[in-house]
Amino acid sequence: MHLAEISKRALHFFESRDHTVVPSAPLIADDPTLLLINAGMAPFKRYFLGEATAPFPRATSVQKCVRTVDIEEVGKTSRHGSFFQMFGNFSFGDYFKERAIPLAWEFMTTPTTDGGLGLAEDRLWVTVYQDDPEAEHIWRKLVGVPASRIQRLGMADNFWSMGVPGPCGPCSEICYDRGPEFGQDGGPAANDERYLEIWNLVFMQNTRGEGPAKEGYPILGGLPARNIDTGFGVERMAALLQDVPTIFDIDTTRQILALAAELSGTTYGKSVNTDVSLRVVADHILASTMLIGDGVTPANEGRGYVLRRILRRAVRMMRLLGTDDPVVGELFTKTIDVMGSTYAELIEDRARIHSLGEAEEGAFAKTLKAGTAIFDVAASKAAESRILPGDKAFQLHDTYGFPIDLTVEMAADAGLSVDREGFALRMQEQRARAKADARRRKSGGRGDIDVYRELLAAAPTEFTGYTELESQARVQGVIRDGERVSSASAGEIVEVVLDRTPLYAEGGGQESDAGRITADDVELEVLDVEKIDRKLWVHRVRVVAGEIAEGRNVVARVDSEWRTGARQAHSATHIVHAALRQILGPTALQSGSLNRPGYLRLDFAWQRPLSSETLSEIEEVANRAVRQDFPVGIEYMPLPHARELGALALFGETYDEDVRVVEIGGDWSRELCGGTHVERTAQVGALTFIGESSVGSGLRRLEAHVGLDALRFLASERAMAVKVADLLHVPTAEISDRVSGIIDELRTARKELDTLRAEQRAHLATVLAGHAVTVNGVRVVAEQVAGPSATTELRDLAVQTKAVLEGSPAVVVLAALGSDRPIVVAAVNQQARRLDVAASELVQAAVGALGGRGGGKRDLAQGGGGDARAIPAALESVLAMVARAATQ
Ligand code: ALA
Repeated sequence: MHLAEISKRALHFFESRDHTVVPSAPLIADDPTLLLINAGMAPFKRYFLGEATAPFPRATSVQKCVRTVDIEEVGKTSRHGSFFQMFGNFSFGDYFKERAIPLAWEFMTTPTTDGGLGLAEDRLWVTVYQDDPEAEHIWRKLVGVPASRIQRLGMADNFWSMGVPGPCGPCSEICYDRGPEFGQDGGPAANDERYLEIWNLVFMQNTRGEGPAKEGYPILGGLPARNIDTGFGVERMAALLQDVPTIFDIDTTRQILALAAELSGTTYGKSVNTDVSLRVVADHILASTMLIGDGVTPANEGRGYVLRRILRRAVRMMRLLGTDDPVVGELFTKTIDVMGSTYAELIEDRARIHSLGEAEEGAFAKTLKAGTAIFDVAASKAAESRILPGDKAFQLHDTYGFPIDLTVEMAADAGLSVDREGFALRMQEQRARAKADARRRKSGGRGDIDVYRELLAAAPTEFTGYTELESQARVQGVIRDGERVSSASAGEIVEVVLDRTPLYAEGGGQESDAGRITADDVELEVLDVEKIDRKLWVHRVRVVAGEIAEGRNVVARVDSEWRTGARQAHSATHIVHAALRQILGPTALQSGSLNRPGYLRLDFAWQRPLSSETLSEIEEVANRAVRQDFPVGIEYMPLPHARELGALALFGETYDEDVRVVEIGGDWSRELCGGTHVERTAQVGALTFIGESSVGSGLRRLEAHVGLDALRFLASERAMAVKVADLLHVPTAEISDRVSGIIDELRTARKELDTLRAEQRAHLATVLAGHAVTVNGVRVVAEQVAGPSATTELRDLAVQTKAVLEGSPAVVVLAALGSDRPIVVAAVNQQARRLDVAASELVQAAVGALGGRGGGKRDLAQGGGGDARAIPAALESVLAMVARAATQ
């Protein structure tokens, strides 16, 4: 059964049992505690926590997920993938265990002819949480699973959470016995490769606090309702139903793997190491494509780092498998072909996905060289101790993007070991720093949401900031690391809740206000303001002086300079949005925005890049609106009334209260918005676009400078134009003509250079052919050449040399130093192949002597790596091999 068919059946089964089918959310989680969606339930977290009311009592979905905690396991086991799709069915306070358990069983065991998966009942085992007799009872009495196939396990296996503070609960897993060929018996408790976990049913009823990811964390209390969250990895299920040994062999992933084997000239299924590498490549390329498709870009932190790490790992693996050429382009094309039938947005966004992936591959190729140089110096310094210091390995990892296992491999080649303890220590320090950062980051430390619930129940915050920049207030609560405390003193960073505040909390795209909270001897600097459940303002502050205590009377003050900039930027965002829709039409709807003093960005639904003419037109309409000095008005009205007036309601507004409508120039722009705005549009000053780009499938991003920053930006552009004109010795108006002229000249010069190089190569090929020796009737050239530093150049030279020798059996094996490691290429003509000489085997012999890796076909093969001093020995072994082969 194909992967897509499994998803279709599962969704259909639950849809026909009153579950609403919810499409997969993008991988980028709308959740500050989570980098990437790592489970099917993640998009529904707020419903489980009771922070929002679910619009449906039951749901079902197939959700894209990325998990990198087990990245070292990927490819080595049959079942760990960093990208996977999780099917799930969910109940938000509706049915519980007694229904979830029989439903899962029914779907799995219903025959395929009746829409189920047709799994044999006697192959299925069940695990339950040790303190959950109720679940065991349901399995035995309602489903009829024999007691001998039910096992009780502890928290590590049968209590599920997202690994961070949030919802959690006991769970029950369904496992499939793959048979004795997969290992010893004894049920899932004894062997998790043989008894493969295929479905997890979580009885979501508690919240957890900070602590270890899987076990031993504190359970804080109950959730407002009892919920169901289930999940099975569709890839795992596919492997089972397609009767293939691993998730990399299923109908989809296998195609990517096959291309990786072809590009690297290796064969899948012959050696364990090669197989692991090919699986890693297939998995990581798949994950990278999906991440970029959902708007992640490579970076050194956060989600971007996850992407960078796996994409580089894939590129490195391909290099180790023996190819020096760029591979990401072709692998991405294949992945998009394979996944595009389920995720059509990948096809629409092909160009952007490719350009990001290929640029990352190019950048890594560069750091790979610089990092190798650093490595060489460090390795020669370590000649005596034979140990590469941990901080060098860390530097390579951190600055040059070298994964530690690459460094370890290179060190082993040079006869060194790596001080892994030292490395681990540096990593630990870095992780500790990252953790501290994360704790400081907004909701990261929100371990105990009960604290906020309690404060909210006592009294919501009154927001005074639409009319005042300074308000008298009283401290309702002080929170340190998620816990309520009575006071905090100078130097500490804590959260403070006031009964009233003029400080704007991040929302509607507008960043939170900068400001101060003071009393006689107390001064707090406001670092961030966040709104919880729309009603409770939480100020994250640094205590600059004095002591802040609950019950204190204080003055909360907004930094007025900041607010002026924020108002300009927010009004400018509405203006740009309206201008955009005037020019592009009403479908160009905003999907998100961010604004802060001096800057705005707006994401909107649109399929194609905007031409520079269209951009200028939009900019012109926006700047005209500024110049017309429209009045900006604020009105409160019921939502249906606002809708009648055509106000744009962008994000899930509720009917329970009047909504706030911001009008610019009457109906020139009308949006529901809680932000702060200028009184008249001329106060925006100036607006200048700085760029337009794609941020995901069918989504574009416009960025602009606002006010003084816009003028400064234009001034710096002008200064740059003057500088370039100076360098080119032309007036600024002629820069563009002059540069096109230079590009033409360069193109001609490059062509000439290519011709010269080709001539040189032809000459060198003739010289090399002249060196051929005859071994048992085969003309053999086996030489080290100076010059070519890339495998492609060396390959062209070998092929040309072989052509000169055409007419008799000919073998050409060339080695060169390469840019950072020895490289070797073998070319064998047809007559020699008839004598059973194969290029792939010759390369194997050569890289065997070098200590590198390689592969290819019978007529042409390549390889590299290892010790350059062994090149003569490598060429000797090639000669010996030809001699042996040709006499047989
Ligand atoms: N959320 C549960 C899991 O991911 C179903 O295993």
